[in-house]
Amino acid sequence: MLKIQQPTEQQPSKKETLVLGNLLIVDDEIMLLKLLERMFVDMYNVRIASSGEEALQLLEQGFVPEVILADQRMPGMSGAEFLAKSRNLVPDAVRVILTGYTDVNDIISSINDGNVYKFLTKPWKNPELLQTVRNCFDYYNLSTQNVWLLEEVRLQNRNLQELNDKLARRNSELRELNEQIASNLLQTIKTLSSLISAGEMHYYTNHAQMVATIARALAKELALGEETTSSIVVAALLHDIGKLGLPERVLIADPDSLSPADQTLYRSHVEKGSQLLQSVSGLERVASIVVQHHEACNGSGFPLGLDEGSIMREAQIVAIADLYHNLVYRIPEDVYRAAHQPRSLVQPQALTAHRQAEARKVLYKKARHFRLDVFEAFMQLIKDGTCPPVQIGAILNDPPLPFEMADSETGQSPTSPIPAPANAEMVSIPFSQVAVGMITAQDVYTVDGTLVLPMGTVVDYHIFQRMREFYENRSIPLRLLFFKIR
Ligand SMILES: [Fe+2]
Ligand SMILES: [Fe+2]
Repeated sequence: MLKIQQPTEQQPSKKETLVLGNLLIVDDEIMLLKLLERMFVDMYNVRIASSGEEALQLLEQGFVPEVILADQRMPGMSGAEFLAKSRNLVPDAVRVILTGYTDVNDIISSINDGNVYKFLTKPWKNPELLQTVRNCFDYYNLSTQNVWLLEEVRLQNRNLQELNDKLARRNSELRELNEQIASNLLQTIKTLSSLISAGEMHYYTNHAQMVATIARALAKELALGEETTSSIVVAALLHDIGKLGLPERVLIADPDSLSPADQTLYRSHVEKGSQLLQSVSGLERVASIVVQHHEACNGSGFPLGLDEGSIMREAQIVAIADLYHNLVYRIPEDVYRAAHQPRSLVQPQALTAHRQAEARKVLYKKARHFRLDVFEAFMQLIKDGTCPPVQIGAILNDPPLPFEMADSETGQSPTSPIPAPANAEMVSIPFSQVAVGMITAQDVYTVDGTLVLPMGTVVDYHIFQRMREFYENRSIPLRLLFFKIR
């Protein structure tokens, strides 16, 4: 049996590059032993032993045969016994028993004890013996190659498993990172939204949150996807962030009545807001919507006077929701100036209904400001005169933000901390009529502008006690807006 070995500097000749397979022959009949040695010496690296003991010594000295040919009948240790013992020293060797006897017991014990591969009887036929030994070497090579291949497969499986584990760990880390980023972003949006709310005292209901609620309903009417809807809702919440820091006179006046200088100041809020949002990673698309929320399809908008083809549909949705809320819920400047606490002002329901009807007329006049699909969907939304704010319970039942944007602690979205029931009725009541189970229909602020309860909070016993303390200290408005279950 031949194996090819890479030549080295010390073994350059062709003859020495071939390594013969190791063959061990054990027989107590010296004549036969020599005969067998001569038969195989040109083909294999042959070692001979005249007894089992001598053969074991050879193995103990480090000779590792691939094939062992042993006579069965030997004085002292039989061939089967020797082969059985040799298994501890050379477990992989292929074993052949030669015997002059056809004793059944010999055959059985050889096969059982010696793990014998082949049984040959004496006298042998040379071609048969040569072929048998060649087969034994082939068998050895195949079986060791199988073991090697199996080991290789096992190793590769282990590597694959390690790779899979590593990939799973990376995926899990990535998921955690994404959740962390989403959570941070949501926190940023909530903080910015609270800041905006604190500065918007000139509306009967919270402007940013109501625009977001209406825009969400419109996105649903237009069957927009979750990701787009999410961008619209966040943009609606933050659309007027650029107004932070504007003087009160600019904020509360009708924009059309402002002086040219104040008009410029007012108009600057879209670009200021967009620039601010662009600096927040993850809000780039929102910033693009915000910068267009005063653009109009007929080119009459600002800051760029874009035409229909250049305005994002998302920006149009925020724009029409913004216009509608301004038309119905903006506190007129004279009313605002006359009020001691503008936040405690409540618009009478009859006036709200009247302003809703007027708003529809204005919207028809300004129809060319909007894409046809957005305009038609919005008019459909308010077609029976019950505009979104009146049906707020029904709209708030649908979370304005998709799931992944929801608050990681409460699972609820920032614009609807607790969804109001569909059968809720909005009422303005003095604190003495507030009861556990009611839901705030406005953000409740202290007179110095600190947010006490966000809109949509269900009043439980503890909240009620806290509100009473504020009320007794005259820190919150005397009348508040609530949803009452009908
Ligand atoms: Fe605006
Ligand atoms: Fe606005």
